[in-house]
Amino acid sequence: MLVVILICIIAVALYIKFRYSRVALYKFAETWPTYGDLPILGHTHWFIGGPERIFNNIRTLMDAINAEGKTVSSVWIGPSLYMVSFNPDDVQKILETCLEKDYSYKFLQTWLGNGLFVAPIDLWKVHRRLMLPIFHNRIIEDYIEVFGEQGNVLVERLQEQVGKPSFDVYEYITSCMLDIVFETSMGKKMDVQHNPDTPYLRARKTVMSIINMRLFKAWLQPDVLFNLTSHATVQKENIDATHKFTDEVIRDKIADFDEENYKEGRKDILQLLLERKLAFSNIELREHIDSITIAGNDTTALVISYVLLLLGEHQDVQEEVYKELKMIFGDSQRRPTKEDITKMDYLDRVIRETMRLYTVVPIIGRKTQKELKLSTCTVPAGVGCVVVPMVLHRSKKLWGPDADSFNPDRFLPENSTDRHPCAYIPFSYGTRNCIGRYFGMLAMKSILANILRSYKVTSQAFDRLKIEILLFPVNGHQITLEKRL
Ligand code: HEM
Repeated sequence: MLVVILICIIAVALYIKFRYSRVALYKFAETWPTYGDLPILGHTHWFIGGPERIFNNIRTLMDAINAEGKTVSSVWIGPSLYMVSFNPDDVQKILETCLEKDYSYKFLQTWLGNGLFVAPIDLWKVHRRLMLPIFHNRIIEDYIEVFGEQGNVLVERLQEQVGKPSFDVYEYITSCMLDIVFETSMGKKMDVQHNPDTPYLRARKTVMSIINMRLFKAWLQPDVLFNLTSHATVQKENIDATHKFTDEVIRDKIADFDEENYKEGRKDILQLLLERKLAFSNIELREHIDSITIAGNDTTALVISYVLLLLGEHQDVQEEVYKELKMIFGDSQRRPTKEDITKMDYLDRVIRETMRLYTVVPIIGRKTQKELKLSTCTVPAGVGCVVVPMVLHRSKKLWGPDADSFNPDRFLPENSTDRHPCAYIPFSYGTRNCIGRYFGMLAMKSILANILRSYKVTSQAFDRLKIEILLFPVNGHQITLEKRL
């Protein structure tokens, strides 16, 4: 009994000491409006539950904060203070000046090391500058051939679903995107579309699901607690397996590397990195290549799948897209070229509107490195800044009373002139935005053009969503296919 009392006294004393050391932060947070917090817990209870409940809670909490008309609000998750803003001027300032990622990205860092996505700011500055020329439009356009080739395989595979009941198209699309990112980033023809269940792909999925679980389970976040669970061992084994795979590809590439051989033709990203003799170690190469294959795959596959869901629901829009494709291709089944893709204006608007309504990267977390002056307050250094594109994209203040409806013509040039640059940020904004956005747009247009020339899509209304790092529909991307004549 005495021992228990002693432990309680020590715990209370430690808690008081901890609170005392952060008095300045608490005092400061009190000056911000807040909503839905509890004593001691703060907002932690909003982030407990399954992925659907967490999505609904985040939506409710953020909508309430946004509706209150407060430009800046505080959110406490456990002991961490976050500042949320829905004022596009503040969002612009945060994304332009706070380039350091939030603490929550550290769970990805165990896997992706100092790859571009999670790299600490000093290293990121150097590496982003070195990588930018490799993501130049001219180089990315060389990959259009791969997009067309893999898109054709996808169309062939989808044939098995024609006339059948609804099925989850995401599984097909993500395999196609994996083939694309593996071939373009490391020159590896994996043929995931025909072999979707390899040990490497299983290891990737396992790591993703453990990281996602950790993100939303507060008690698994401290390393000391996580390392006591079996998840830590499983995560380590699977991370090691994915690292081994990429390390081997890099070793083989270096062994075969002969500058003379690489003079002509299309080059994958790894070749380009080697050829330029950039000062990357083998580990850094692996971290960058892994980051690219992870950041570029599910995001793009999800957007394509959401486009198919929305077009299945909005047949008039689908017919408009089909008409545009007919005008570009006639009856030809040829692979889309750069010129073809440039002409897909309506499809472009459909994709943009889809990314507005279903923002696959729903939340972005940054950290202030020094004091940051926003519209209504000055945020001290070391505070997490949360930008929530999925809420900004449906804000009635920014998009009008029909913000929730699907209308690709919002993105007509004449309807976009007065829009704030941070009202629409599916690829984030500022210098730490998505380096693969041109790659993603070209791949999405090419693949959608291939599918929609061959098949007519139908789908049913879907409204249940969940957050598993990215935004997924709870029941999958269920569509049915009919062959076009
Ligand atoms: C529809 C497709 C895509 C969407 C919606 C998307 C979205 C985003 C967003 C929002 C970020 C910033 C995340 C943050 O700050 O937390 C980001 C970063 C990044 N994306 Fe994408 N992305 C897409 C496709 C791609 C593709 C195809 C690639 C590579 C081929 C790629 C590679 C990256 C990388 C490497 C970063 C980190 C950039 C940095 O920190 O400098 N993404 N992406």
